[in-house]
Amino acid sequence: MYEGTITNQVLRKKLPLRMKRLYLEDLPDIEEVQETVIAAMPGQTTLQPLSTEEFLFILNERGLMVGAYAGEELIAFRALLIPEIDEEHLGYDIGLSEEELPKVIYQEISVVLPAFRGNRLQQKLADVIMKELPRMPGNFRYVCCTVAPMNIPSLKDKFTQDMYIAALTEKYGNKERYVCVKDLENPSLGYTDFAAAKLDDFNKQHQLLDAGYVGFDFQMKGGFHEIQFVKPILQ
Ligand SMILES: CC(C)(COP(=O)(O)OP(=O)(O)OC[C@H]1O[C@@H](n2cnc3c(N)ncnc32)[C@H](O)[C@@H]1OP(=O)(O)O)[C@@H](O)C(=O)NCCC(=O)NCCS
Repeated sequence: MYEGTITNQVLRKKLPLRMKRLYLEDLPDIEEVQETVIAAMPGQTTLQPLSTEEFLFILNERGLMVGAYAGEELIAFRALLIPEIDEEHLGYDIGLSEEELPKVIYQEISVVLPAFRGNRLQQKLADVIMKELPRMPGNFRYVCCTVAPMNIPSLKDKFTQDMYIAALTEKYGNKERYVCVKDLENPSLGYTDFAAAKLDDFNKQHQLLDAGYVGFDFQMKGGFHEIQFVKPILQ
């Protein structure tokens, strides 16, 4: 699916990189990578880890996983998931109608081992996995995902893919999450007004989202990230 090179930032060593689809037999390696990533981020809540059952669901039935290998070692993976339609469905958070919900696919977990970060691997995996989307069973129009506030690399990853923040809401119990979306039939937003809110100013972000704005990019102001918002023109 992809061949190149990747730098191990700890060893300062270039290694061959390749990507391939992951299957059930790869589950032990997948879980080991997830464990290593969790162990390296104690106390942080940006990652919503997947259970064995959830990985099985993606690998067996309702999804697709792509893995990145440095030499023979699995160092990163990324998943797409066809979600079940229940009250937790992200389509509800962004105001989709009931009929639109089967057209939603999720970008699920993506992780990169700490030693291999800084290579924009999350974004490279996005390119590869999104090219596989047409092969998945279904007719998908909306790509949705959640992102933890302050997870700058993940937000960058979404904005680079032309996804935008459509909601900020409580998910997974009581954790605040952005709900991001890209409408594949309308990938470029037409917009009118501009506004901005500091990355940690959730009050202002809620106000803007409630007023119909969406978050579409970052800008740096005085050394801090701000999220840029616009009001989309409905088409
Ligand atoms: C999120 C994650 C997958 C990104 O890994 P990656 O692809 O190696 O990301 P990179 O280190 O190459 O960074 C990508 C961009 O974010 C920026 N970035 C990374 N960490 C940053 C930080 N703490 N503050 C500001 N910017 C940051 C990088 O500078 C880079 O920006 P650029 O493209 O403008 O140069 C990885 O950090 C990870 O596995 N985190 C833990 C699990 C997680 O949170 N997953 C996402 C939710 S499922």
